[in-house]
Amino acid sequence: MAGKVTILLGQVVQFQDDPFAGPPEGAVRHDRRGAVAVAGGKILASGPADTVLATHPDARRIDHGDGLILPGFVDAHAHYPQTAMIASWGKRLIDWLNTYTFPEEMKFGDPAYAAEIAARYLDLLLANGTTTVASFCTIHPESVEALFQAAEARGMCVAAGKTCMDRNAPGGLRDTAQSAYDDSKALLTRWHGRGRAAYVITPRFSPTSSPEQLAALGALWAEHPDCLMQTHLSEQHEEIAWVRELFPEAQDYLDTYESHGLLGPGGLYGHAIHLEAREIDRLREVDASLIHCPTSNTFIGSGLFATMDHCRAGQRVGLATDTGGGSSFSMLRTMAAAYEVGQLRGTALHPAQLLWLATEGSARALRMDDRLGTLAPGSDADLVVLDLAATPAIAQRHAQAHDIWEAVFPTIMMGDDRSVAATYVQGRQVGGQT
Ligand code: GUN
Ligand code: ZN
Repeated sequence: MAGKVTILLGQVVQFQDDPFAGPPEGAVRHDRRGAVAVAGGKILASGPADTVLATHPDARRIDHGDGLILPGFVDAHAHYPQTAMIASWGKRLIDWLNTYTFPEEMKFGDPAYAAEIAARYLDLLLANGTTTVASFCTIHPESVEALFQAAEARGMCVAAGKTCMDRNAPGGLRDTAQSAYDDSKALLTRWHGRGRAAYVITPRFSPTSSPEQLAALGALWAEHPDCLMQTHLSEQHEEIAWVRELFPEAQDYLDTYESHGLLGPGGLYGHAIHLEAREIDRLREVDASLIHCPTSNTFIGSGLFATMDHCRAGQRVGLATDTGGGSSFSMLRTMAAAYEVGQLRGTALHPAQLLWLATEGSARALRMDDRLGTLAPGSDADLVVLDLAATPAIAQRHAQAHDIWEAVFPTIMMGDDRSVAATYVQGRQVGGQT
């Protein structure tokens, strides 16, 4: 037995199926009085409190009352270096990058600044119940070191990589095809699989990489197919038109990646809003992951991602803040935005589908659902406990709930870090209000 057993008591929601594959409520098991048993940083058991307590009668108990125990949230796409410039006003994507983002990212060659923001960012995540993130860094290897070191200090599973750009970015924020390959490889060798760290090969997007750089990173991915690869795809119409000019020989935006070895099963494609039929088919054929960033897509004015269509088709879809194009660190706010985007497309996402996207769906997109994003025995004990009546506005609505979905939906729509009663990483409480 792996160390002392602790049992967390509260309401428990667990997915037994993909809630997009059939009726969402049928995919869920809800224990009104439930429990999660934890030992040695792993989940031992989860289910009805009576059963779990009977199996471990001598365990230490932490009673979260009516709190809802879920797997910690998984943010499948973010830019931690954009923490300090989140909520910058008035620009669309390309102007927003040039005006706000690149000047801020320039600062990350300074290891002290990178360490300060990495620590601030991960503490904000934990306060918001997010226990895993896939983050872009900057072109500076120092920025990657800083994030992995901060994650290691907190015991968090973080996926991240050096953002590569060798054109259409200011001097001081450009590498080369060769240095992108060399630096990425050195960081990958140092960090991938060290503790809970996962290195992600990270070309920013086709406009900021020459064909030579895309090919170099494609070659690196071919050498390390167990690594994820993250980038951006078809976020705004102006960006897509620009890609067409820069790559006149490409069939479409996705082809600029595929023709350089950057399309595959471990590929994470952020935004993926304005896709052509061929791109949709190809992404599905290779079982790639699309990452939905709804607060970003409304904040920067990008468009409406087709969550229901992609999920029903069986595509891997992750949910993400896209900090700081996104306007919140909170996956609750992100679920609310995903609901609103769904409504604008005429498809109301069920609360079960929203919770699944923020946990198991994102973990599946990152191909980590064998170890996180669920309450399955053997999974890492990364957990969030939600107070479903955390503010007066939420509490008065919650008081009228007839079932778990009416009980949780006001927190999805109106909640933020005040709704996070506790966050656990590897079974150790590291954040939250209690
Ligand atoms: N496309 C390329 N870089 C970025 C970025 O930093 N944020 C967003 N939202 N889109 C991008
Ligand atoms: Zn992004």
